[in-house]
Amino acid sequence: MACTQSIGMGHLCGQNGPHLFCFLHGRRHLWCWCLLHNEQTMNALASSSTLAVQPLYVQMAVRMAGLIESGVFQPGQRLPSVRDSAAQEGVSISTAMQAFRWLEDKGLAQAKPKAGYFVSKLRQRIALPMVGQPPAHSVPVERRSRTDVIRVDGGQAIRVNLGGTCPRDSMLFDEDRVRVAVSRATRVHRRTLVSYTNEAGTPALQNAVAQRALHLGCSLRGEDVVITSSCIHAVSLCLMAVTRPGDVVALESPTFFGFLDLLEALSLRVVEIPSHPRTGLSLPALQLALDTQPIKAVLAVPTLSNPLGAIMPLADKKALVRMLAPHQIPLIEDVVFNDLLASDERRKAVKAFDRDGSVMVCGSFSKTLAPGIRLGWVEAGRWRDQVAALQRVQGAATNEVLEHALADLLTQTAYESQMRRLSATMKSRLHEARRLVSGHFPKGTRVSDPAAGYTLWVELPAGMNSMRLFEHAASEGIAFGPGQLFSATDRYAHCLRLSFSGAWGDAEKEGLMRLGHLAQALSRQASQA
Ligand SMILES: Cc1ncc(COP(=O)(O)O)c(C=O)c1O
Repeated sequence: MACTQSIGMGHLCGQNGPHLFCFLHGRRHLWCWCLLHNEQTMNALASSSTLAVQPLYVQMAVRMAGLIESGVFQPGQRLPSVRDSAAQEGVSISTAMQAFRWLEDKGLAQAKPKAGYFVSKLRQRIALPMVGQPPAHSVPVERRSRTDVIRVDGGQAIRVNLGGTCPRDSMLFDEDRVRVAVSRATRVHRRTLVSYTNEAGTPALQNAVAQRALHLGCSLRGEDVVITSSCIHAVSLCLMAVTRPGDVVALESPTFFGFLDLLEALSLRVVEIPSHPRTGLSLPALQLALDTQPIKAVLAVPTLSNPLGAIMPLADKKALVRMLAPHQIPLIEDVVFNDLLASDERRKAVKAFDRDGSVMVCGSFSKTLAPGIRLGWVEAGRWRDQVAALQRVQGAATNEVLEHALADLLTQTAYESQMRRLSATMKSRLHEARRLVSGHFPKGTRVSDPAAGYTLWVELPAGMNSMRLFEHAASEGIAFGPGQLFSATDRYAHCLRLSFSGAWGDAEKEGLMRLGHLAQALSRQASQA
């Protein structure tokens, strides 16, 4: 269906091509779901809920900023005239002028005498973060719990939360579908509410997990799958099964701070293996570590790592299995984000190439389907019995009703379309956020460019301290993950992780721009010192 609404100068998205739906906001025709730019305009739509509290000119400016940041208006392109925009928005010319000046102040638009406003030419393409050096030896993990840093220091009134990756935006999930599945499971399996369970999992869920694992290239037997209370729980069972206190574990670096917390709790040492922002774990660096350190296990997120969002190429995934085999070292593979990729080929797990049970694969559906159900799973290969025993010893048998609900959700045909929707939303957010970082952070900033997922990894110019930036930002109600959390050393003191799993509206976009300006101020101070 073509858009039939006239706004005087064609569609606001600047395209005269086909439009699928038009969203009329009162008398304003602001957003189209344009076939040429569907992700961007959809995303702009999502942000409209937080606009109402701002002055009119800011509301208008933020909407236009969204179109610029999402690429609807390209660098150097002429923006609609002030007069047309005022008519379009139903505001006075002076309000529209204020909106354009706001865009100018934010560095998004430039006025050209007698020609109007143009989208600023953004700075040159932003580079990827650099890959670190392999460490010479392992280190103990003995610092304050990383999760606490974010909780305690960020416990002030945070209004823009770019911190944790736990999905917090209900818009990302199909709440109704989850509710219906839980109600149905409660009705159909109500008997299980009054009977005791102490098993590795409900066969319905074990089999549903095995079916989903086919999309990761893994043929698992349902009976070998142990159900856990989360992915982190699954990883902890694997670590307990294959290590003793004081042992060394190889981790990709930067790494998810939850892993460092676990290693610390289990008194393990870490050797941090550098990772490339696109291709992940450096195999030459891992080989060097295997040859020189007494490594007992490798723990990695080979597909959409956290925080980099790196994906190991299939050849590297195969090579990793071959590399570990002669050392008899298990790989603990976390596949919690794999389903966020659209094709089975890209989702493929390292476990798909495991022939002798050396890969312990752990997952959950907290990042993809229903964060609140919070059930995880593990297929621990050769260590299946030890992991099942540890799960039992910990009294961790889970709630059967929820297991049935999850099994139902996993086997519904809607699962894949939901993943595609979630993935497209996140891709659009990451794209927009990357452009904001590129336009507002200090010169020399680098940023990752993940294909999917929830996070961006930002490398500020050398010498900057992201914990200091965190303190300044938190005092203005903006939170993010300081780089120090992602290593047992201080090597990422000048880096930070931004997560977009919470709300993503005008407040967050403005918060991100503000964070960039705070970083610029700190960068200027650092260069003057
Ligand atoms: C790589 C990775 N694994 C696991 C988790 C946690 O998953 P769950 O909530 O199922 O424990 C996270 C959370 O951010 C993560 O980044």
